[in-house]
Amino acid sequence: MKGLVVENSKITLKDGLDVPSPKNNEVLVKVVCASINPTDLDIVKGQYDLFFKLFGGDHLVKTGLEFSGVIEAENTRFKKGDKVFGYVDLIRGLKTHQEYLAIDEDYIALMPSNLNFEQAAALPLGALTTLVALQDLGQVNKGTEVLINGASGGLGVYAIQVAKIFGARVTAVAGPNQEEFLMNLGSDQVINYQKSNIKDLSEKFDILLDLTTNLKFKEIKNILAKNGKFIPTDPLKNMMDLLSNIFGNKKTRLLYVGQGNYEKLTQIAHWVEEGKLNTYGDSCFAFSDYEKAFQRLREKGKRGRVIIKIGKDK
Ligand SMILES: NC(=O)c1ccc[n+]([C@@H]2O[C@H](COP(=O)([O-])OP(=O)(O)OC[C@H]3O[C@@H](n4cnc5c(N)ncnc54)[C@H](OP(=O)(O)O)[C@@H]3O)[C@@H](O)[C@H]2O)c1
Repeated sequence: MKGLVVENSKITLKDGLDVPSPKNNEVLVKVVCASINPTDLDIVKGQYDLFFKLFGGDHLVKTGLEFSGVIEAENTRFKKGDKVFGYVDLIRGLKTHQEYLAIDEDYIALMPSNLNFEQAAALPLGALTTLVALQDLGQVNKGTEVLINGASGGLGVYAIQVAKIFGARVTAVAGPNQEEFLMNLGSDQVINYQKSNIKDLSEKFDILLDLTTNLKFKEIKNILAKNGKFIPTDPLKNMMDLLSNIFGNKKTRLLYVGQGNYEKLTQIAHWVEEGKLNTYGDSCFAFSDYEKAFQRLREKGKRGRVIIKIGKDK
């Protein structure tokens, strides 16, 4: 089978890779589409190599964290031919930039029936991560003031919609020319980060979800409400803020979607089918055009995910 292989910080499309064999709780999936996201860029640079080596994730294909596809070899929950979407364990899991994937059934769910493979591959990790952040860590509900920093990217487009499903008031922070798009997604207010610095806002927020990984707690504490919570998306970059929780300041929350979550993925699929949640793919590239896809990922102004088409959908 074909897959993207990373060697010396360079990615190459190789053929002749072994099709993985599913174990215990796993199914074999023929991958149809996969996304690429900022973590893939860090993986290519080698930033995860030590973790991969230490925790059993040193696979030939190292990039690709979410996908849509078709069940080839079934197990207990899914049947051959089912259309599924899902994500992989960042450290240990086989990655999705390859034609076949063996994956634990807990990391996948049936695709929303109203989406095609391209749309479905843009959905799982972004929607699930923001659902975990806003529901489990943020306990967001009616009237909660939520600020989403980095609102037009792969996670942001879902964070706005999930916060609105729970009844929150949403302030979205993004670059130029995104206001109309983000208001249409449900934002109550949009701030252009090139014109205003959120640290100077006079309003207070119950939840500040930072999808840019640029912010530190001390910079934003003045715009947090009394019991407000800061939820950064990169635990490693905010390690000091998280450690400060030990000394009583329990305002920074640890966000890490590692385990499988079939129930929440299924909830997301139902929201899509009910028209409460829309999926956003910024662009879609052929597998052979993977370099162009990675180039698009590095550009500013994207809306949602960059997708690569890996296999045929028949
Ligand atoms: N903890 C977890 O379990 C978990 C799971 C999934 C993802 N993540 C992490 O979550 C982060 C976000 O992922 P993503 O896919 O949403 O990334 P993304 O698509 O690159 O989105 C980031 C957004 O931030 C915006 N931005 C850049 N500079 C900004 C600034 N100064 N102020 C406000 N917004 C700014 C970008 O807008 P422009 O286009 O204008 O630059 C972009 O829309 C990544 O670091 C990813 O690794 C964590």
